[in-house]
Amino acid sequence: MHPIISIRDLSKTYESGFQALKSVNLDIYKGEIFALLGPNGAGKTTLISIICGLVNPSTGTVTAGGHDIMRDYRAAREQIGLVPQEITTDAFESVWANVNYSRGLFGKPKNHDFVEKVLRDLSLWDKKDSKIMTLSGGMKRRLLIAKALAHEPDILFLDEPTAGVDVELRHDMWRLIRGLAETGVTIILTTHYIVEAEQMAERVGVINHGEIILVEGKAELMRKLGKKQLTLELHAELTAVPDGLADFDLELAGEGRKLVYTYDTQKERTGITRLLAELNAQQIRFRDLSTSESSLEEIFVSLVKRDA
Ligand SMILES: Nc1ncnc2c1ncn2[C@@H]1O[C@H](COP(=O)(O)OP(=O)(O)OP(=O)(O)O)[C@@H](O)[C@H]1O
Ligand SMILES: [Mg+2]
Repeated sequence: MHPIISIRDLSKTYESGFQALKSVNLDIYKGEIFALLGPNGAGKTTLISIICGLVNPSTGTVTAGGHDIMRDYRAAREQIGLVPQEITTDAFESVWANVNYSRGLFGKPKNHDFVEKVLRDLSLWDKKDSKIMTLSGGMKRRLLIAKALAHEPDILFLDEPTAGVDVELRHDMWRLIRGLAETGVTIILTTHYIVEAEQMAERVGVINHGEIILVEGKAELMRKLGKKQLTLELHAELTAVPDGLADFDLELAGEGRKLVYTYDTQKERTGITRLLAELNAQQIRFRDLSTSESSLEEIFVSLVKRDA
């Protein structure tokens, strides 16, 4: 498949001398939902700002829909909608005027029906005549999305779209974003709510200290890097992991009432059968057992820590 966004050897050193991006290579495909995850200061906004033409790269190239973002800026930018991380909007203007203006900026003919649909989809229609300064924080964030969609872009960047948005509206926004992806819009989002990436993204990229340290399908990522745990609820308390079980990755929990076995899902054998046999031999009885899998959040934290 041909990538809709192609990033090659992209680096950015700010005037301060700080290198925010180090030779980033990344392809994004049409219609996918891609989540870019990384800790504060990792370079997410810098990367997005370069692709959207707000920040100049130091080296490297980016094409959007086949257009070079430097040489062919207008054609590249036309295809892109950006929901910026920072809320800065014209306080005195009305919602309606502001969103229509955003559309006009890209030279698109007026289309009131389309703008109405966007505002309705974002539950902003009843606020269309309100001045922006009278909106709540969550409404302002939805307004940013409406503005980004006003010129019907094929590629939508959402930089922390749901920061400060309440749970119910966040779910509405996820639905809206999924709906856009279904119509063929390519979505790239950054988020600190890892659950959001887990819910939404097909692929995940992890960026740390200006470097992409991993790009992987979400399902594969969870399968490859996820660990599973087996928790045994013991009949009798233990004060320590018995010597005979030293070669298992075991931990005592619940004040000696629980034995937690962590195993690798990628290995051919889980070791569970051997562990249970060993427990039996040592006459350690349990009343119940359960398994759990690591979340994307745990995987993310371990990845970023490993790279620190
Ligand atoms: N205009 C600038 N001049 C100098 N340094 C900058 C500038 N903008 C960003 N930086 C630095 O570049 C690094 C990356 O910043 P960036 O905003 O891209 O991070 P981020 O991943 O978006 O973080 P967050 O999750 O907090 O939004 C940070 O160390 C930041 O201080
Ligand atoms: Mg940012």
